[in-house]
Amino acid sequence: MDKIISPLVFVIFGATGDLTRTKLLPALYSLYRLGKITHNFFILGVSRREIAVNDFREMMRLAAQSGGSADFNSGTWAEFADGIDYEPGYFENPDLYQRIVGKLKRYDKLAKACVPRFFYLSTAPEHYAPILEHLHNSGLSAGCGQLSAAFTRVLIEKPFGRDLETAAELENQLSHVFSEKQIFRIDHYLGKETVQNILAFRFANGIFDPTWNRQFIDHVQITLDETVGVGTRGAFYDGIGALRDVVQNHMLEMLALMAIEQPIAFNEKNIRDEKIKILEAIKCIKIDQTVNNTVRGQYQGNGKLLSFIKEKNVSNNSNTETFVALKLFVENDRWDGVPFYLRTGKRLNRKLVQISVHYKKPVLCKQDVCFYNPTQVLRNVLAIKIQPHEGIDLRVMVKEPGFGMKLTPIQMKFRYNSEFSGTSKPDAYARLLIDAIAGDQTLFARSDGIAASWKLMMSIREGWESARVPLQIYKSGSTGPAAAEELINRDGRHWI
Ligand code: BG6
Repeated sequence: MDKIISPLVFVIFGATGDLTRTKLLPALYSLYRLGKITHNFFILGVSRREIAVNDFREMMRLAAQSGGSADFNSGTWAEFADGIDYEPGYFENPDLYQRIVGKLKRYDKLAKACVPRFFYLSTAPEHYAPILEHLHNSGLSAGCGQLSAAFTRVLIEKPFGRDLETAAELENQLSHVFSEKQIFRIDHYLGKETVQNILAFRFANGIFDPTWNRQFIDHVQITLDETVGVGTRGAFYDGIGALRDVVQNHMLEMLALMAIEQPIAFNEKNIRDEKIKILEAIKCIKIDQTVNNTVRGQYQGNGKLLSFIKEKNVSNNSNTETFVALKLFVENDRWDGVPFYLRTGKRLNRKLVQISVHYKKPVLCKQDVCFYNPTQVLRNVLAIKIQPHEGIDLRVMVKEPGFGMKLTPIQMKFRYNSEFSGTSKPDAYARLLIDAIAGDQTLFARSDGIAASWKLMMSIREGWESARVPLQIYKSGSTGPAAAEELINRDGRHWI
């Protein structure tokens, strides 16, 4: 993280929304605090709300203060806020873009430079098309004239469409306005510290990669459990559901990183090529297999916690899933026959994001003679903990102290916070933004990968509809529907 870049301008569409306040603005401010972006840094907030610049600045100050910026400092905030501007308007209105042109010209003058432009689409997805069209028609996407358009970039948030067709439409619109090098599709999970450590841990330690295959690994589990419900996002979430919201992107990205072949070089092209090969190698689930290989659920109220169908802006007969469990297979030489079990849900009993690799048991008995009691020996499990306690655990068997030979499992634990106390970890958004500014696309999704993941998601949705896979109701605060336990127990395995 030694990249210092300026001048630059972030034009944020949807600037008064949740994402800007909770993630984007705090991340930009922390980059400023760290000195990664310096003088001549401008933010132009664009949104429908008719508010004055000072009110917008105040809104952003509160966001920076409450958005985890433990390092908030009123002095640097004053400097940072100096570069914050605001322009109200409707995204479909061409006049808005002319006003933006005027503002950007003013920043160029102030900076005495052609300021590179970053257009951040932090709006509901239905606004992407008009914004892209007007960026093009107004000439904004072409840059300020002296610089080539390559210095102009667009950052776009998931969901990238809601199915294969709409994702392709969005790609079409994007590629009409920007070249692939200018497009940064954000999946914030790729910016998380432990997700990034997956490759380092596997390839920089001689003991893991040789066993990272079907000969040694029994199965892999990927868990993204949340305690929160849909909160204020009911209107967005109803009809989207967990499969589109987190499986299509965050969970498949984690799976791809786990299963990847070693890239020829650790650069953006090779890493992304290898990841996409995995996404393309995941077997689509056939309709008649959906009942046994997938579970869809929805949370029901419990005490003060509302049922999903009672949440604000959710239809009271909604069929949207807030829980998904899947059993997937990657069809290649390395992983053939190794199940990848995925589970995610809202309003569960714990907040946990984790990938666990469950090794096969060693050979314990030969010709009916057992060295150790096979029932005492548990699988080795390598657990990559992404949230909330970032780290890595390895379960190994040891001999219990004392006479005789009794085996017991113990955990070898590594925790980022204790091992690297005093070292500040950049937040996922801050890391992604700095990479986007530097033009490094390694941690961003690519269109062919998105198409591959939608293809898989569509096969599941089709199966859900045709095979009428029932919506399993689970109590808020529980471990999820019993059917999710059955999905894995059927194979003689258990969720970790
Ligand atoms: C978002 C989803 O992409 O990821 C949310 O839209 C989900 O529904 C969130 O809660 C989880 O992200 P994190 O970083 O809080 O684990």
